[in-house]
Amino acid sequence: MQKSKFLNIVLAIAVLVLVIQLQNKNNSSDKSESTQTSVAEDSLSIKSDSAMIPFKKKSIGVRSEVYPKPAFVIGSYDEDGTPNIMTAAWAGICNSDPLSIAVSMRPATYSYENVTKSKSFTVNVPSSEMARYVDYAGRFSGRDVNKFEETGLTPVKGEFVNAPYVKEFPIVIECELREYHDLGSHRQFIGKVIDVKVDEAILNAEGRVDVNLLNPLIYGGGRYYETGPFIAKTGESLNEIDGEPFVPDYSRKYANKALEVIHNRKSVRHFTDQPVSKNQLETLLRAGMAAPTAVNRQPWAFYVVTERETLDALGEQLPYAKMLFQAKAAIVVCGDMEKAGNLKDKGYWVQDCSAASENILLAAESIGLGAVWTAAYPYDDRTKVVIDELGLPEKHVPLNVIPIGYPTGEDKPKDKWKPGNIYWR
Ligand SMILES: Cc1cc2nc3c(=O)[nH]c(=O)nc-3n(C[C@H](O)[C@H](O)[C@H](O)COP(=O)(O)O)c2cc1C
Repeated sequence: MQKSKFLNIVLAIAVLVLVIQLQNKNNSSDKSESTQTSVAEDSLSIKSDSAMIPFKKKSIGVRSEVYPKPAFVIGSYDEDGTPNIMTAAWAGICNSDPLSIAVSMRPATYSYENVTKSKSFTVNVPSSEMARYVDYAGRFSGRDVNKFEETGLTPVKGEFVNAPYVKEFPIVIECELREYHDLGSHRQFIGKVIDVKVDEAILNAEGRVDVNLLNPLIYGGGRYYETGPFIAKTGESLNEIDGEPFVPDYSRKYANKALEVIHNRKSVRHFTDQPVSKNQLETLLRAGMAAPTAVNRQPWAFYVVTERETLDALGEQLPYAKMLFQAKAAIVVCGDMEKAGNLKDKGYWVQDCSAASENILLAAESIGLGAVWTAAYPYDDRTKVVIDELGLPEKHVPLNVIPIGYPTGEDKPKDKWKPGNIYWR
């Protein structure tokens, strides 16, 4: 009897505990639901806030987030006359008249001592291909190694100052130390520019450095980068574009270089006087031949026209290729009927040569050149002009003529994104 009473009490307690637990669970799920709602509301309100404030800034403290940073290589002699180089990012133009460059060095560097004593230094501006030498010069000290000997770079005695420059670098600037300032961690050396020497291959028609040909090395955040494409001329911010005031378009950012080139490609119909090199044309042809073709037939032939007379003659006779008068070269993409397959799949040559043509256009954009597709095929009169002018054999049918040159900047890419053209299934 006593035993069953005890059991009843245990059962009643168990039921009570169960009821309390269930209640707690309901309460907490209510709570979590209401918390979720408020989080959702919060994130909504954050969204609408961020829509109103396009640039949300966050303080990250005192850090050297200044871009782009240069990666100069500073040349100097030590007391024994041994040439040394060190990499410096804390550097740049600091005065126009007299033209002066400031370079900051830590007292621990060998170069600090060298420049203080020799009162001279050179600034060697690297192209991006020089990244590994620049990195080496910034990792080892001239106190421990002879960096010229280790890298195989060639020291050349400055023509005007008591400092060596690097023969292989595309731009060298000879500087005479005018003054220095001890700023804290670094001594800032101010050098008056005595002479600037530039590799002729990177000069444009006006005798100025073509930044795309130089492709200067950029340093930032512990990494090296190369320069991007030409974006705008100075003063463009003062222009109105299509009647609208110029507003920088930060949305034209692309995840990688390939997408950037694809979206920046435009039909370039206005060219400068700057010549186009054989190397550049070969770069375009290599890109053309990298295109996919049906059954890997590569049913093509590429005619490269650089003679002024022929470019003009084509321009005169082709109704939509008048830009040939300004262009410095043209590539004529032809189908090769002997390689184009049998009767059934012969038609692929147009697709194959079109893929090659698009590759050529993209390659031109990627190296700072401009190009435009002007049709020959399927117009009999236009193909005849090209065949006659270039003396093409019967097997070569010209698909198009692609005039090539340096763009003046007048032609802009079009935004052709139209979601209405897409049918999702
Ligand atoms: C990308 C890069 C940038 C650098 N910038 C500077 C700089 O601006 N000033 C500096 O004192 N050291 C800088 N350094 C470190 C020196 O180049 C490094 O200490 C070098 O070994 C000094 O050479 P030295 O002792 O032969 O003069 C940099 C290094 C790298 C890799």
